[in-house]
Formats: sequence, structure tokens, C-alpha cells
Amino acid sequence: MSEAKRIDGKATAARIVARVKAEAERLRAEAGMRPGLAVAIVGEDPASQVYVASKARMAEECGFRSERHVLAAETSEAELLGLVERLNADPTIHGILVQLPLPKHIDAGKVIRAIAVEKDVDGFHLTNVGLIGTGQAAAAFVPCTPAGAMILIRDVIGDDLSGRRAVVVGRSNIVGKPMAQLLLAADATVTIAHSRTADLAEVCRTADILVAAVGRPQMIRGDWIRQGAVVIDVGVNRIPAPERGEGRTRLVGDVAYDEALGRASAITPVPGGVGPMTIAMLMANTLVSAFRAGG
Ligand code: GUN
Repeated sequence: MSEAKRIDGKATAARIVARVKAEAERLRAEAGMRPGLAVAIVGEDPASQVYVASKARMAEECGFRSERHVLAAETSEAELLGLVERLNADPTIHGILVQLPLPKHIDAGKVIRAIAVEKDVDGFHLTNVGLIGTGQAAAAFVPCTPAGAMILIRDVIGDDLSGRRAVVVGRSNIVGKPMAQLLLAADATVTIAHSRTADLAEVCRTADILVAAVGRPQMIRGDWIRQGAVVIDVGVNRIPAPERGEGRTRLVGDVAYDEALGRASAITPVPGGVGPMTIAMLMANTLVSAFRAGG
């Protein structure tokens, strides 16, 4: 058995971003309009700060208007809702993203519901969730990570996933649940597994398509992977890397990558797999929102 193909999410994301950039230029030339993305973060979580900064930077690279709102950890729910209201009413903003998780004193569901559906480029609003769950994803904003993962899966397998058994490990609203909906809409037979699933290893071994989104470093071992499976690793976990020097760390996924290489037919690396796709899809959603707003 040959070693798994490494799915280059970075290269695919770069192609998508190049297309978004070209379309944004066209929108500007033809309609005098510039897509606008506002990202907001509450608190100092370093990983979230990095994500938000890269989203804002990529928006600038795409030629978008880019706003970054960095709010103190003690910001009240009312203040955050006030910001969302202002962004909803701002005609220069087409996409609003509030980075999750939010501090405990803020009701994330309430904040997400407050974002105007037509600016919900994260695809978290109940209307967008409902559209995806009822087979109307084309009319919705699809959450960026699952949308990006689907592109990578289709690049490897093709559009028709009928007859394929997919296992999604993780049941979050951001990744696991929408991922399962998208796979189902593509005619895969879908199982959602999670940390409380009995015989998780055995369930994973049934998967032709295995999506790992649990947030536990290298939890999915090589022998959990069916020979020839396509493995999509959504996890981004920072672990100590003493071999790189004292105090150093490195990023790993939810899958034990080196073990998986001998089993999978194709696998996304971490970093360089799903991560860049998430940001690319956010840019694509923001562009679509600008077009819908009158481009
Ligand atoms: N936290 C982790 N992933 C995401 C995402 O895609 N969007 C938002 N808003 N928060 C996140």
C-alpha cells in the first residue's frame, strides 16, 4: 500500500482567494462597490486573536474593506449586541463575524441571532442552519470550515458521494453538525460520532470519509482508519515540542498523522490542510454577500 496523498489545502485556498480577489476587483470596477468584512473578538485568547488577525489581513489582501474590533474580556453582552447592531446597519459592511468562543457571561446564541442573516458569513444564524438542514444550502451561507472541507473531499473523490460511508467525529455547531449535513446532502451515508460514542475506534473504521473535529491532539490513531479512507483533519491543537527546544510547541491535528499515512488514501495535514480553506471560504462568503447586496 502506497503512502497517502497529502491534500494541499493551502494551494486550493490560494486558488480560491485569487478568484475572490479578481471578482472583488470586477465588483469595484463595474459597480463601484467594495466588499466589507467586520470581525469582532472579545477577550485575549491567543489562538483566537491569531485567527481573527489572519481573517482581517486576508480580507485586506482580497481588496475588501476590513474592520477588526478587539474588545476587552469584560465587555458586556449589551455592548457586543450594540456593536452588532451598528454593523448590521452599516451599508459598507457585508459580512459580520464574531469569533467564538465568547466569554461565559455572554450568550453566544443571542449574539449570533442578532447578526443580520444576510451578513452572517459564518453561516451560524438559525436561518442559515435551517436552510442547510433542509437541502437549501445554495441559498444559505455555509459555515466556512465545513464548506472548505467539502471542497477538499470533492477534489479527491468527485461530486457524487453516494454509497460512501462518512463518519464525522465531533458534534459542534461550527463544524460537526454542518459537516454532517453537507455530506448527507451530497448523498453520503453519515454517522456523527463524538467523545461519548461507544467503540469510537470501531465506528471510525467503517468510514470511507473520516472527518475529525474533536479538538483532541492525535486522538484518532492509524489503526482506527480504514485502508484507503479519505481523512479530513479539522483539529488544530498546540502541543509541547521539547525536541524543538525548551518551551517550544507545535501544531497537530486530531489525527495521528504519521500513523494515518500508511492507511489513508488521502489526508489533510495540520497545518496546511483545512485551516487555510476556512479563511478562503470566509472571503468567498463575504464576496457573495456583497454581490447579493447589489453588486
Ligand atoms: N471559532 C472557531 N472557528 C470559528 C469560525 O469559523 N467562526 C467563528 N466566528 N468563530 C470560530
